[in-house]
Amino acid sequence: MTVRLDGALAKATGMGRKDARQYVNRGAVTVNGEVIRKADFSVSLSDEILFRGETLDLREHLYVMLCKPEGTVCTTEDVAESVLRLFPDSYRKRLFCVGRLDKDTTGLLLLTDDGDFDHRLMSPKHHAEKEYAVTLAQPLKETDIPLLEGGMTLENGETTRPCRVEKISDGACRITLCEGKYHQVKRMFAAVGNRVTALRRIRIGNLPLDPTLADGEWRDLTEEEIALLSAKSEL
Ligand code: URA
Repeated sequence: MTVRLDGALAKATGMGRKDARQYVNRGAVTVNGEVIRKADFSVSLSDEILFRGETLDLREHLYVMLCKPEGTVCTTEDVAESVLRLFPDSYRKRLFCVGRLDKDTTGLLLLTDDGDFDHRLMSPKHHAEKEYAVTLAQPLKETDIPLLEGGMTLENGETTRPCRVEKISDGACRITLCEGKYHQVKRMFAAVGNRVTALRRIRIGNLPLDPTLADGEWRDLTEEEIALLSAKSEL
């Protein structure tokens, strides 16, 4: 597939089409080492296009896995704590978070520029499973497990859908949800008189957090992983 050079520049940088055309006309863009001044010049994914010394990313969409570190915020606003500050410019300009994690929650966060992908994973109809490793202030009581799993009423009257809880040790468990209410895990454990002291997301749908990523590290998803996420997993 080929696209126009000004369109490729606009998409990869986030600038307007008119600006992109002007940059091309002024000779600010090279294609495979040659200055090209024609805005309608055809380029494809295999061409190397340079603008201001940086290679343009011509991929239609970006799909990224981040191991979110503590203290970062899921926002596209350009603030110091934004998870987007962990990415180079070319990614930062395009990405948004697929769902949100709290500032103190760590682990698997997906980012993309593909609205359909976001919708498939996050809409209430499709809501993919999300698994969290939970550390608790108090030992988890056996009698609390069916309460959490069965669907419960939170402090503001909201109700939760059935989920799975797996006890790992007295103060640690895993919980798998297929919805994403605000502070849901913390509020569910608060509703049984406990308190979450650490929360880490370890899986979304069929995709586990890559164990080789340290907190703050990220990588592009593979084609297989993108396909895995598109396959439905049932609770
Ligand atoms: N539940 C929470 O309480 N916090 C998160 O970040 C995710 C799920």
